[in-house]
Amino acid sequence: MKKRLLECLSGKKIDRAPFWFMRQAGRYLPEYRELRAKHKHFLEFCYTPDAATEATLQPIRRFGMDAAIIFSDILVVPHALGAEVTFEEGEGPRINPITDNYGLKSLSLDALEEKLQPVYQALRQTKAALPEETALIGFAGAPWTLACYMVDGRGTRKFDATRKLAEQDGLFFGQLINLLTRAVIRHLDLQAKAGAEVVQLFDSWAGIASGEMYMNHVVEPAFRIITEFKKLHPQVPVIAFPRQSGTKFLDYARQTGANALSLDDSVTPAWAKMKLPPELVIQGMLDQNLLAENKAAMLAQAKEILETFANRPFIFNLAHGIVPKTPVEHVSALCDLIRQS
Ligand code: CP3
Repeated sequence: MKKRLLECLSGKKIDRAPFWFMRQAGRYLPEYRELRAKHKHFLEFCYTPDAATEATLQPIRRFGMDAAIIFSDILVVPHALGAEVTFEEGEGPRINPITDNYGLKSLSLDALEEKLQPVYQALRQTKAALPEETALIGFAGAPWTLACYMVDGRGTRKFDATRKLAEQDGLFFGQLINLLTRAVIRHLDLQAKAGAEVVQLFDSWAGIASGEMYMNHVVEPAFRIITEFKKLHPQVPVIAFPRQSGTKFLDYARQTGANALSLDDSVTPAWAKMKLPPELVIQGMLDQNLLAENKAAMLAQAKEILETFANRPFIFNLAHGIVPKTPVEHVSALCDLIRQS
Protein backbone atom coordinates (compact mmCIF):
# COMPACT_ATOMS: atom_id res chain seq x y z
CA MET A 1 0.00 0.00 0.00
CA LYS A 2 1.19 3.54 -0.80
CA LYS A 3 1.96 5.95 2.03
CA ARG A 4 0.02 9.18 1.56
CA LEU A 5 2.64 11.37 3.23
CA LEU A 6 5.41 10.13 0.92
CA GLU A 7 3.22 10.46 -2.16
CA CYS A 8 2.40 14.02 -1.23
CA LEU A 9 6.06 14.88 -0.56
CA SER A 10 7.04 13.54 -3.96
CA GLY A 11 4.52 15.92 -5.54
CA LYS A 12 1.92 13.30 -6.58
CA LYS A 13 -1.77 14.05 -6.56
CA ILE A 14 -3.55 12.02 -3.87
CA ASP A 15 -7.12 11.47 -2.67
CA ARG A 16 -6.85 13.84 0.32
CA ALA A 17 -4.29 15.76 2.34
CA PRO A 18 -2.13 13.52 4.56
CA PHE A 19 -2.14 14.54 8.22
CA TRP A 20 -0.18 14.21 11.44
CA PHE A 21 0.17 16.55 14.40
CA MET A 22 3.20 17.94 16.16
CA ARG A 23 3.30 16.51 19.70
CA GLN A 24 0.70 13.92 18.73
CA ALA A 25 2.17 11.74 21.48
CA GLY A 26 1.88 13.50 24.80
CA ARG A 27 0.06 14.46 27.94
CA TYR A 28 -3.37 15.07 26.35
CA LEU A 29 -3.59 11.25 25.97
CA PRO A 30 -4.47 9.26 29.13
CA GLU A 31 -2.49 6.25 27.87
CA TYR A 32 0.58 8.51 27.49
CA ARG A 33 0.23 9.80 31.06
CA GLU A 34 0.05 6.23 32.31
CA LEU A 35 3.18 5.19 30.39
CA ARG A 36 5.03 8.37 31.39
CA ALA A 37 4.31 7.73 35.10
CA LYS A 38 6.44 4.57 34.94
CA HIS A 39 9.58 6.62 34.26
CA LYS A 40 10.93 9.18 36.71
CA HIS A 41 13.12 11.12 34.30
CA PHE A 42 11.96 12.29 30.88
CA LEU A 43 15.26 11.49 29.15
CA GLU A 44 15.34 8.02 30.68
CA PHE A 45 11.84 7.56 29.21
CA CYS A 46 13.05 8.76 25.77
CA TYR A 47 16.05 6.39 25.96
CA THR A 48 13.96 3.28 26.72
CA PRO A 49 13.24 1.87 23.24
CA ASP A 50 10.12 -0.10 24.27
CA ALA A 51 8.63 2.98 25.96
CA ALA A 52 9.52 5.34 23.10
CA THR A 53 8.06 2.87 20.59
CA GLU A 54 4.86 2.54 22.59
CA ALA A 55 4.49 6.35 22.94
CA THR A 56 5.03 6.74 19.18
CA LEU A 57 2.35 4.15 18.38
CA GLN A 58 -0.33 5.35 20.84
CA PRO A 59 -1.73 8.22 18.73
CA ILE A 60 -1.60 6.04 15.58
CA ARG A 61 -3.74 3.37 17.24
CA ARG A 62 -6.27 5.91 18.40
CA PHE A 63 -6.48 8.21 15.37
CA GLY A 64 -4.68 6.55 12.42
CA MET A 65 -2.65 9.56 11.35
CA ASP A 66 -0.76 9.19 8.05
CA ALA A 67 2.55 9.51 9.86
CA ALA A 68 4.15 8.64 13.18
CA ILE A 69 6.89 10.90 14.56
CA ILE A 70 9.43 9.06 16.64
CA PHE A 71 9.05 9.80 20.35
CA SER A 72 12.20 11.58 21.45
CA ASP A 73 13.26 15.19 22.06
CA ILE A 74 15.36 17.80 20.33
CA LEU A 75 17.58 18.07 23.43
CA VAL A 76 18.96 14.53 23.06
CA VAL A 77 21.55 16.06 20.70
CA PRO A 78 23.11 18.47 23.26
CA HIS A 79 22.89 15.63 25.76
CA ALA A 80 24.75 13.26 23.43
CA LEU A 81 27.41 15.94 22.89
CA GLY A 82 28.09 15.92 26.62
CA ALA A 83 25.89 18.77 27.95
CA GLU A 84 24.05 18.17 31.21
CA VAL A 85 20.33 18.12 30.35
CA THR A 86 17.48 17.60 32.81
CA PHE A 87 13.73 18.13 32.63
CA GLU A 88 12.19 19.56 35.79
CA GLU A 89 8.60 18.58 36.48
CA GLY A 90 6.32 21.32 35.18
CA GLU A 91 9.24 23.64 34.37
CA GLY A 92 10.73 22.32 31.17
CA PRO A 93 14.36 21.67 30.25
CA ARG A 94 17.49 22.79 32.10
CA ILE A 95 20.99 22.71 30.57
CA ASN A 96 24.29 23.70 32.18
CA PRO A 97 24.90 26.84 30.10
CA ILE A 98 27.59 26.69 27.41
CA THR A 99 28.82 30.28 26.96
CA ASP A 100 32.57 30.17 26.33
CA ASN A 101 35.38 28.11 24.82
CA TYR A 102 35.77 26.17 28.04
CA GLY A 103 32.15 25.01 27.71
CA LEU A 104 32.55 24.32 24.01
CA LYS A 105 35.61 22.12 24.68
CA SER A 106 33.51 19.95 27.00
CA LEU A 107 31.36 18.93 24.00
CA SER A 108 32.25 16.24 21.49
CA LEU A 109 30.70 14.37 18.57
CA ASP A 110 32.61 11.20 19.38
CA ALA A 111 30.02 9.46 21.54
CA LEU A 112 26.89 10.72 19.74
CA GLU A 113 26.17 7.55 17.81
CA GLU A 114 26.61 5.33 20.84
CA LYS A 115 24.62 7.56 23.21
CA LEU A 116 21.70 7.84 20.80
CA GLN A 117 21.48 4.12 20.04
CA PRO A 118 18.19 3.85 22.00
CA VAL A 119 16.61 6.38 19.61
CA TYR A 120 17.73 4.38 16.56
CA GLN A 121 16.54 1.18 18.21
CA ALA A 122 13.13 2.76 18.85
CA LEU A 123 12.96 3.77 15.17
CA ARG A 124 13.68 0.18 14.07
CA GLN A 125 11.07 -1.23 16.46
CA THR A 126 8.49 1.37 15.46
CA LYS A 127 9.08 0.77 11.75
CA ALA A 128 8.44 -2.94 12.25
CA ALA A 129 5.23 -2.31 14.21
CA LEU A 130 3.60 0.47 12.15
CA PRO A 131 0.67 -0.19 9.79
CA GLU A 132 1.96 -0.36 6.20
CA GLU A 133 0.24 2.87 5.19
CA THR A 134 1.84 4.93 7.97
CA ALA A 135 5.06 6.83 7.30
CA LEU A 136 7.77 7.18 9.95
CA ILE A 137 9.21 10.64 10.65
CA GLY A 138 12.56 11.25 12.36
CA PHE A 139 13.55 14.70 13.59
CA ALA A 140 16.14 17.00 15.08
CA GLY A 141 16.22 20.47 16.57
CA ALA A 142 17.96 22.99 14.34
CA PRO A 143 21.29 24.47 15.53
CA TRP A 144 19.85 27.91 16.39
CA THR A 145 17.11 26.48 18.63
CA LEU A 146 19.53 24.04 20.28
CA ALA A 147 21.96 26.93 20.88
CA CYS A 148 19.12 28.94 22.47
CA TYR A 149 18.57 26.24 25.12
CA MET A 150 22.32 25.62 25.54
CA VAL A 151 23.36 29.25 26.01
CA ASP A 152 20.38 30.47 28.04
CA GLY A 153 20.33 27.14 29.90
CA ARG A 154 16.53 26.91 29.88
CA GLY A 155 13.45 27.88 27.93
CA THR A 156 12.77 31.63 28.10
CA ARG A 157 10.62 33.81 25.90
CA LYS A 158 13.33 35.84 24.21
CA PHE A 159 16.60 33.98 24.90
CA ASP A 160 18.40 37.25 25.67
CA ALA A 161 21.72 35.60 26.60
CA THR A 162 21.79 33.73 23.29
CA ARG A 163 21.00 36.73 21.14
CA LYS A 164 23.53 38.88 23.01
CA LEU A 165 26.26 36.26 22.62
CA ALA A 166 25.48 35.79 18.90
CA GLU A 167 25.96 39.52 18.44
CA GLN A 168 29.00 40.06 20.68
CA ASP A 169 31.06 36.90 20.24
CA GLY A 170 30.50 35.84 16.66
CA LEU A 171 33.55 33.59 16.64
CA PHE A 172 32.47 31.50 19.61
CA PHE A 173 28.83 31.45 18.55
CA GLY A 174 29.76 30.41 15.01
CA GLN A 175 31.80 27.52 16.42
CA LEU A 176 28.88 26.37 18.56
CA ILE A 177 26.50 26.53 15.57
CA ASN A 178 29.05 24.67 13.47
CA LEU A 179 29.38 21.84 15.98
CA LEU A 180 25.59 21.59 16.29
CA THR A 181 25.22 21.55 12.50
CA ARG A 182 27.57 18.57 12.26
CA ALA A 183 25.78 16.81 15.13
CA VAL A 184 22.36 17.32 13.52
CA ILE A 185 23.57 15.96 10.15
CA ARG A 186 24.93 12.89 11.95
CA HIS A 187 21.73 12.37 13.97
CA LEU A 188 19.47 12.70 10.91
CA ASP A 189 21.71 10.37 8.89
CA LEU A 190 21.55 7.71 11.62
CA GLN A 191 17.76 8.09 11.92
CA ALA A 192 17.33 7.59 8.17
CA LYS A 193 19.56 4.49 8.39
CA ALA A 194 17.35 3.20 11.23
CA GLY A 195 14.19 3.57 9.14
CA ALA A 196 13.02 7.21 9.17
CA GLU A 197 11.34 7.87 5.80
CA VAL A 198 10.98 11.64 6.27
CA VAL A 199 12.81 14.00 8.63
CA GLN A 200 11.65 17.24 10.19
CA LEU A 201 13.98 20.00 11.32
CA PHE A 202 12.47 21.97 14.23
CA ASP A 203 13.70 25.55 14.52
CA SER A 204 11.22 26.57 17.20
CA TRP A 205 12.96 29.87 17.99
CA ALA A 206 13.78 31.00 14.44
CA GLY A 207 11.32 33.87 14.94
CA ILE A 208 13.46 35.67 17.53
CA ALA A 209 16.54 35.77 15.26
CA SER A 210 16.59 39.13 13.53
CA GLY A 211 18.08 40.05 10.13
CA GLU A 212 21.67 38.91 9.92
CA MET A 213 21.22 36.42 12.76
CA TYR A 214 18.42 34.75 10.82
CA MET A 215 20.59 34.42 7.71
CA ASN A 216 23.73 33.24 9.53
CA HIS A 217 22.27 31.00 12.20
CA VAL A 218 18.91 29.84 10.84
CA VAL A 219 19.09 29.76 7.02
CA GLU A 220 22.78 28.94 6.52
CA PRO A 221 22.91 25.93 8.89
CA ALA A 222 19.62 24.62 7.45
CA PHE A 223 21.12 24.86 3.95
CA ARG A 224 24.19 22.91 5.09
CA ILE A 225 22.14 20.28 6.90
CA ILE A 226 19.72 19.75 4.02
CA THR A 227 22.49 19.71 1.39
CA GLU A 228 24.61 17.18 3.30
CA PHE A 229 21.61 15.07 4.27
CA LYS A 230 20.42 14.92 0.66
CA LYS A 231 23.83 13.64 -0.47
CA LEU A 232 23.46 10.79 2.01
CA HIS A 233 19.71 10.15 1.58
CA PRO A 234 18.47 11.64 -1.70
CA GLN A 235 15.15 9.82 -1.35
CA VAL A 236 14.30 11.06 2.17
CA PRO A 237 12.34 14.35 2.12
CA VAL A 238 13.07 17.12 4.62
CA ILE A 239 10.29 19.15 6.23
CA ALA A 240 11.59 22.35 7.83
CA PHE A 241 9.84 24.29 10.58
CA PRO A 242 11.48 27.66 11.18
CA ARG A 243 8.69 28.69 13.55
CA GLN A 244 7.36 32.26 13.54
CA SER A 245 9.38 33.23 10.47
CA GLY A 246 6.58 35.39 9.02
CA THR A 247 7.45 36.72 5.57
CA LYS A 248 10.98 35.29 6.02
CA PHE A 249 9.48 31.84 5.34
CA LEU A 250 9.91 32.80 1.69
CA ASP A 251 13.68 33.44 2.03
CA TYR A 252 13.99 30.23 3.99
CA ALA A 253 12.13 28.26 1.30
CA ARG A 254 14.25 29.70 -1.51
CA GLN A 255 17.61 29.32 0.19
CA THR A 256 17.61 26.04 2.12
CA GLY A 257 16.32 23.42 -0.33
CA ALA A 258 13.74 21.99 2.09
CA ASN A 259 11.09 19.83 0.38
CA ALA A 260 8.35 21.11 2.64
CA LEU A 261 7.83 24.03 4.97
CA SER A 262 5.73 23.86 8.12
CA LEU A 263 3.85 27.14 8.64
CA ASP A 264 2.17 28.80 11.60
CA ASP A 265 0.13 31.89 12.49
CA SER A 266 2.96 34.29 11.58
CA VAL A 267 1.53 34.08 8.03
CA THR A 268 -1.97 33.51 6.64
CA PRO A 269 -3.00 30.61 4.38
CA ALA A 270 -3.77 33.16 1.63
CA TRP A 271 -0.25 34.64 1.85
CA ALA A 272 1.30 31.17 1.69
CA LYS A 273 -0.78 30.18 -1.32
CA MET A 274 0.13 33.35 -3.17
CA LYS A 275 3.82 33.72 -2.27
CA LEU A 276 5.39 30.32 -1.78
CA PRO A 277 6.72 28.45 -4.86
CA PRO A 278 4.02 26.06 -6.17
CA GLU A 279 6.34 23.02 -6.05
CA LEU A 280 7.08 23.56 -2.35
CA VAL A 281 4.97 21.31 -0.13
CA ILE A 282 3.21 23.27 2.60
CA GLN A 283 2.51 21.82 6.03
CA GLY A 284 0.42 23.35 8.80
CA MET A 285 -1.20 25.45 10.15
CA LEU A 286 -4.23 24.97 12.40
CA ASP A 287 -4.15 26.99 15.63
CA GLN A 288 -3.32 24.47 18.41
CA ASN A 289 -5.07 26.65 20.99
CA LEU A 290 -8.29 26.58 18.99
CA LEU A 291 -7.96 22.79 18.86
CA ALA A 292 -7.84 22.78 22.65
CA GLU A 293 -10.49 25.40 23.33
CA ASN A 294 -13.15 25.78 20.66
CA LYS A 295 -14.25 22.79 18.63
CA ALA A 296 -16.65 24.57 16.27
CA ALA A 297 -14.23 27.38 15.46
CA MET A 298 -11.41 24.87 15.09
CA LEU A 299 -13.36 22.77 12.57
CA ALA A 300 -14.25 25.92 10.61
CA GLN A 301 -10.58 26.95 10.47
CA ALA A 302 -9.56 23.43 9.41
CA LYS A 303 -12.06 23.54 6.52
CA GLU A 304 -10.77 26.89 5.38
CA ILE A 305 -7.17 25.66 5.42
CA LEU A 306 -8.07 22.52 3.45
CA GLU A 307 -9.93 24.61 0.87
CA THR A 308 -7.11 27.12 0.49
CA PHE A 309 -4.54 24.41 -0.23
CA ALA A 310 -6.83 22.03 -2.15
CA ASN A 311 -4.91 22.47 -5.41
CA ARG A 312 -1.34 22.09 -4.24
CA PRO A 313 0.68 19.53 -2.28
CA PHE A 314 -0.32 20.05 1.34
CA ILE A 315 0.16 18.19 4.65
CA PHE A 316 -2.37 19.00 7.34
CA ASN A 317 -0.77 19.80 10.71
CA LEU A 318 -0.93 22.38 13.48
CA ALA A 319 0.83 25.72 13.91
CA HIS A 320 2.65 24.26 16.93
CA GLY A 321 2.39 21.21 19.19
CA ILE A 322 -0.81 19.85 20.74
CA VAL A 323 -1.22 21.37 24.21
CA PRO A 324 -1.80 19.08 27.23
CA LYS A 325 -5.33 20.35 28.01
CA THR A 326 -6.62 19.40 24.52
CA PRO A 327 -9.74 17.17 24.71
CA VAL A 328 -9.15 13.85 22.92
CA GLU A 329 -12.57 14.23 21.35
CA HIS A 330 -11.55 17.47 19.56
CA VAL A 331 -8.64 15.60 18.00
CA SER A 332 -10.96 12.78 16.79
CA ALA A 333 -13.38 15.30 15.30
CA LEU A 334 -10.52 16.98 13.44
CA CYS A 335 -9.26 13.64 12.09
CA ASP A 336 -12.78 12.78 10.87
CA LEU A 337 -13.06 16.12 9.09
CA ILE A 338 -9.71 15.70 7.32
CA ARG A 339 -10.54 12.12 6.29
CA GLN A 340 -13.83 13.24 4.76
CA SER A 341 -12.22 16.14 2.89
O1 CP3 B 1 4.79 13.61 19.34
C1 CP3 B 1 5.79 14.26 19.00
O2 CP3 B 1 5.73 15.37 18.45
C2 CP3 B 1 7.17 13.62 19.17
C3 CP3 B 1 7.89 13.92 20.35
C4 CP3 B 1 8.50 15.30 20.62
C5 CP3 B 1 8.71 15.76 21.94
N1 CP3 B 1 9.42 16.92 21.87
C6 CP3 B 1 8.29 15.07 23.16
C7 CP3 B 1 8.19 15.82 24.42
C8 CP3 B 1 9.02 16.25 19.74
C9 CP3 B 1 9.01 16.29 18.23
C10 CP3 B 1 9.61 17.27 20.55
C11 CP3 B 1 10.34 18.45 19.98
C12 CP3 B 1 10.76 19.52 20.89
N2 CP3 B 1 11.24 19.43 22.17
C13 CP3 B 1 10.84 20.88 20.50
C14 CP3 B 1 10.49 21.41 19.12
C15 CP3 B 1 9.05 21.60 18.93
C16 CP3 B 1 8.46 22.69 19.78
O3 CP3 B 1 7.67 22.32 20.68
O4 CP3 B 1 8.76 23.86 19.53
C17 CP3 B 1 11.31 21.61 21.60
C18 CP3 B 1 11.52 23.10 21.66
C19 CP3 B 1 11.57 20.68 22.65
C20 CP3 B 1 12.16 20.96 23.99
C21 CP3 B 1 11.23 20.58 25.08
N3 CP3 B 1 10.91 19.28 25.42
C22 CP3 B 1 10.52 21.45 25.94
C23 CP3 B 1 10.57 22.96 25.90
C24 CP3 B 1 9.79 20.63 26.81
C25 CP3 B 1 8.97 21.08 27.99
C26 CP3 B 1 7.64 21.60 27.60
C27 CP3 B 1 6.60 20.57 27.83
O5 CP3 B 1 5.70 20.44 26.97
O6 CP3 B 1 6.64 19.92 28.89
C28 CP3 B 1 10.01 19.28 26.45
C29 CP3 B 1 9.43 18.07 27.06
C30 CP3 B 1 8.69 17.14 26.18
N4 CP3 B 1 9.10 16.70 24.96
C31 CP3 B 1 7.45 16.50 26.49
C32 CP3 B 1 7.14 15.68 25.39
C33 CP3 B 1 5.95 14.77 25.24
C34 CP3 B 1 6.67 16.66 27.78
C35 CP3 B 1 7.39 16.04 28.93
C36 CP3 B 1 6.63 14.94 29.67
O7 CP3 B 1 5.80 14.22 29.09
O8 CP3 B 1 6.93 14.79 30.86
